Amino acid sequence: VPAVIVAIDGPSGTGKSSTSKAVAAQLGLSYLDTGAQYRAITWWMVTNGIDTDDPHAIAAAAGKPEILSGTDPAAPTITVDGVDVAGPIRTQEVTAKVSAVSAVPEVRTRITELQRAIAAAAPLGIVVEGRDIGTTVLPDADLKIFLTASAEARAARRSGELKGADVNVTREALIKRDAADSSRKTSPLAKAGDAVEVDTTELTLAQVIECVVTLVEEKR
Ligand code: C5P
Repeated sequence: VPAVIVAIDGPSGTGKSSTSKAVAAQLGLSYLDTGAQYRAITWWMVTNGIDTDDPHAIAAAAGKPEILSGTDPAAPTITVDGVDVAGPIRTQEVTAKVSAVSAVPEVRTRITELQRAIAAAAPLGIVVEGRDIGTTVLPDADLKIFLTASAEARAARRSGELKGADVNVTREALIKRDAADSSRKTSPLAKAGDAVEVDTTELTLAQVIECVVTLVEEKR
């Protein structure tokens, strides 16, 4: 069986991570969360006192941290200079700053190179989730999925994850981050022309997983 490359893009709260991990696990593929890589470099900038409102400072530091991703879908890992940052990259501070950091072209070039190397090294193939995987990182992917959902559904799912978070606050923050990600100059959040769009608003997670697994099997 040749290696299969699956790109899953879409805004926050559409079920990208849960779907991508489950599909990779079911099909014996590797898994890469590219959002975690952008969060990791953002965490490093914040921790090292780099002004995240200054694109020049971000660009100058973009090559410094060593970011490693473990691609087992049952236990994905992320380290920066050897430090496990799986927890710290999910803080509100990192979430609020990640769009500005990931909009800097030097950051994207750096992280995109890591992503392509990881995908090329995956023995049986990989599910890569993000915002620009189908359009920029892996334009020759065997299957491209673009997940969408209403803002209400996305905010409700995120607040569920963030236990006790206010749905309205979550929705506003989410809409703001998606607007920033969609409007940046370098590889914005966008659906590739040849991507299959799946609206998950009315679907259960199990249904979305089944739908994507079927699409991958058709490609194999
Ligand atoms: O997927 P997650 O919400 O963890 O992504 C965090 C942020 O990383 C996004 O809001 C976006 O700014 C950035 N990102 C990106 N390109 C990707 C994946 C994530 O710019 N491929």
